[in-house]
Amino acid sequence: MKEFYDLGDFSPEEIEALVTLAGRLQRYPEPRALEGKVLSLLFLSPSLRTLASFQAAMVRLGGGSFVISPDMSIHGLETRPGIVMDGTAAEHIREAVPVIAAYGDAMGIRAFAEGKSLDKEIADTEFNALRKLVNTPLINMESAIGHPCQSLADWKTLDDLQVPKQGGRFVLSWAYHPRALPLAVPSSTLQMAAMRGMDVTVLRPEGFELPPAIMDRATQAAAASGGSVRETDERAEALEGAHIIYAKSWASTRHYGDKLKDTELRRPLADWCVDDPWFETTDQDCRFMHCLPVRRGVVVSDQVLDGPRSVVIQEAQNRMYAQMAVLHALLGKRGL
Ligand code: CP
Repeated sequence: MKEFYDLGDFSPEEIEALVTLAGRLQRYPEPRALEGKVLSLLFLSPSLRTLASFQAAMVRLGGGSFVISPDMSIHGLETRPGIVMDGTAAEHIREAVPVIAAYGDAMGIRAFAEGKSLDKEIADTEFNALRKLVNTPLINMESAIGHPCQSLADWKTLDDLQVPKQGGRFVLSWAYHPRALPLAVPSSTLQMAAMRGMDVTVLRPEGFELPPAIMDRATQAAAASGGSVRETDERAEALEGAHIIYAKSWASTRHYGDKLKDTELRRPLADWCVDDPWFETTDQDCRFMHCLPVRRGVVVSDQVLDGPRSVVIQEAQNRMYAQMAVLHALLGKRGL
């Protein structure tokens, strides 16, 4: 394995092998597997889980890591291409990235979407520009359009919970949030559930349709794995028989990059907060998933989040095991 950029770069069997490896490393630790190896972590956007779980993963495998982020006392970073650097930024990302990469054996980068141009973000233009500057194995720790580490961990969580693949009903539901959030998690989550062979329903209000490029890719993955993908704004019908409600907010795709119009469209949608009545017609064992961080009382009620249906902490813990598997496959002696 040379990099971990997108789940779609792998076959479902390869993802299964990573999930199996994650489970093995959870049960049978290998504290010397990556002895002497260093992981460079560049966070251009904030994090709790990704930051902590990658560092913990490296320590558990016998290696080490270091973190660079603009919040630290580094030189001001310029990210715009072709700029005359006569302002406050003293260092360009074009030098900083290869320098950081040179200190490690693999590198993780997080760079969120700017939220301006949908086409540019679907093409992952900014992240791909950074990707070209790295000559060690690269890990996508969340780009404009993908969060594969989250989705790998979520696949493992679904397996741990024995949620059926064929016939498993997965509802990816838009949820209210005061701000327009990126498409990375919904895009990767949809791809993951489709590749896993589940029947996936994207439940969202009008104006928040996922872009055709994202839907088409997932539809093809589902067809190859024996699952299906559809999109609706009919909540009652979507939730019937669901095994999973995976909540996530995202920006209006109808008004992408237009903050005022997005705010106007989402203002009356505060009832898109997952609460107990959402589970009235689901499968009786239906679980609630969310990648975290989550806004209580906005995205999901306290009752659901604190109740037995919620598996959000298990998902977060699986981030560490899933990433241990990725690091083992990228840097270990045996590969994947
Ligand atoms: N889910 C996730 O990636 O969390 P962080 O943003 O805290 O890393």
